[in-house]
Amino acid sequence: MENRTPRQSFTTVTDLVLPSETNPLNNLFGGELLARMDRAASIAARRHCRRVVVTASVNHVAFSRMIPLGSVVTIEAQVSRAFKSSMEVYMDVYIEDRESGERTKANEAIYSFVAVDDTGRPVQIPAIHPETEDEKNRYDAALRRKQLSLVLAGKMKAAEATELKALFE
Ligand SMILES: CC(C)(COP(=O)(O)OP(=O)(O)OC[C@H]1O[C@@H](n2cnc3c(N)ncnc32)[C@H](O)[C@@H]1OP(=O)(O)O)[C@@H](O)C(=O)NCCC(=O)NCCS
Repeated sequence: MENRTPRQSFTTVTDLVLPSETNPLNNLFGGELLARMDRAASIAARRHCRRVVVTASVNHVAFSRMIPLGSVVTIEAQVSRAFKSSMEVYMDVYIEDRESGERTKANEAIYSFVAVDDTGRPVQIPAIHPETEDEKNRYDAALRRKQLSLVLAGKMKAAEATELKALFE
């Protein structure tokens, strides 16, 4: 199976914020952003492995800035690390100033996907080789995040989460 780079999964999705997608303060509803990110991330995951992918977990979402009605929102998604059948997808969310066109980072998120066969069983995916410094940093931290996700889901004992434990030693 041929190795891939994070860049090969790079996905960008740009869309407007419409009135039906906002909360009472006229800012983008959080659940709407989660769904948009899920779509962008699933495309990135699919581009990495060329298989059917399912969302396994939402590991981190930081809603650090409100996104007002009428905003142009761009989600950039890229696989940061591939394991056996699962992948971490890292996303950066930007909004664009109408007049200057300048981009501001509004949010970021990390989702995990699993590649599956036609019956929903996990299948092996290609390895990934990070190229840039940012890609290498995200790759290195991904194992820690996977272990945390598995511990929280009750699928791994805390004592076995070696990368997590190393953080506190
Ligand atoms: C995700 C899913 C395929 C995992 O199946 P499973 O029977 O737990 O399979 P395994 O235990 O063999 O795990 C498969 C991989 O998923 C990873 N995984 C499972 N749960 C995870 C979690 N909560 N966070 C991160 N990774 C997870 C495992 O670590 C393993 O990764 P690896 O092969 O890269 O080492 C299965 O739980 C599923 O189909 N869930 C529903 C998915 C879905 O419908 N999503 C849409 C939400 S509506």
